[in-house]
Amino acid sequence: MATFKQRVFSGVQPSGNLTVGNYLGAIKNWVGLQESHETIFCVVDLHAITVWQDPDVLRDATREVAAGMIASGIDPKKSIIFNQSQVSAHAELAWIFNCVARMGWLNRMTQFKEKAGKHKERASVGLYVYPDLMAADILAYQATHVPVGADQKQHLELTRDIAQKFNSDYGVEFFPEVEPLIFGEATRVMSLRDGKAKMSKSDPSENSRINLTDDRDLIAKKIRKARTDSEPLPGSMDELEGRAEAKNLINIFAALSGRKAGEVCSEYEGQGFADFKGDLADLSVEVLGPITEEMARLMADKTYLDSILREGSDNADKVASPILREVQDIVGFLRP
Ligand code: TYM
Repeated sequence: MATFKQRVFSGVQPSGNLTVGNYLGAIKNWVGLQESHETIFCVVDLHAITVWQDPDVLRDATREVAAGMIASGIDPKKSIIFNQSQVSAHAELAWIFNCVARMGWLNRMTQFKEKAGKHKERASVGLYVYPDLMAADILAYQATHVPVGADQKQHLELTRDIAQKFNSDYGVEFFPEVEPLIFGEATRVMSLRDGKAKMSKSDPSENSRINLTDDRDLIAKKIRKARTDSEPLPGSMDELEGRAEAKNLINIFAALSGRKAGEVCSEYEGQGFADFKGDLADLSVEVLGPITEEMARLMADKTYLDSILREGSDNADKVASPILREVQDIVGFLRP
């Protein structure tokens, strides 16, 4: 296998407010990678329109995701931050990958099944080929490492399949084998109302999630209202079998405090959830409060945010364009 320069790529959809799931499962983990890797972070607006988005709301949500990244510690001087639609290589490579990926592969994608629900015929074609565009996002930069939450694992496996089939169909070693980076104590943050459902921007219940835009009072209120059970906290995570809500709150606590879930358990062993929730609310406010405030400050300066995104798109394009030209040559597109 050819060797590739190590490069990190990841993305977030501007389709609703950023949640503590996005933060703990993904964005928080990106911050440290900036020190060791070349890092590219994308607001994936092309992905967002696979379901209906109001144009004005989409514009602001795009800025808000960029503000959330910066407020969480992504430094525009160290990382490229940009929005997907402004670098045409994403859409162009996605088309080529639509012709590489097989229907059978896409039929197996659980996220499509979840999002399309019972009304598959009424889902957009974009939603169906969403994973091909995601592969294009990553491979347009020949990225080698992709830090994401656990829910993106299947999409990254598809990205590897697409890269492999492209390489073998054309007899090249052009695309790297992408490595998912899924780490931390909260790789899958669950809904505060239902420990079996993922915390999601699109859940109709506001109380199911903590948004990065929530103020201190609202964060504390949502945690107080979070569903738990009447048992006290056990001494270890192994004893939490069947207690999804309890496990979720402990994982959130651990991830926010930078500790192991097991340590948190033994500290609170034998206590009820009322005290634990009080401490979790304080901790959440302490960690998320400054991010929320910085996001609000950034959102008040749209000119600054737009300039970061514009510069990011220019820099992203400089990396992706030469790679796309090579792909065109490999595929046999005449460049007269
Ligand atoms: P999106 O916008 O749903 O989520 C952005 C990131 O947040 C993670 N995440 C979570 N992690 C833990 N617990 C949760 N409840 C939770 N909810 C979301 C996601 O795993 C993700 O890392 N398809 C992607 C966006 C994307 C992308 C890419 C990612 C498009 N192109 C290329 C990586 C590389 C998505 O919908 O993420």
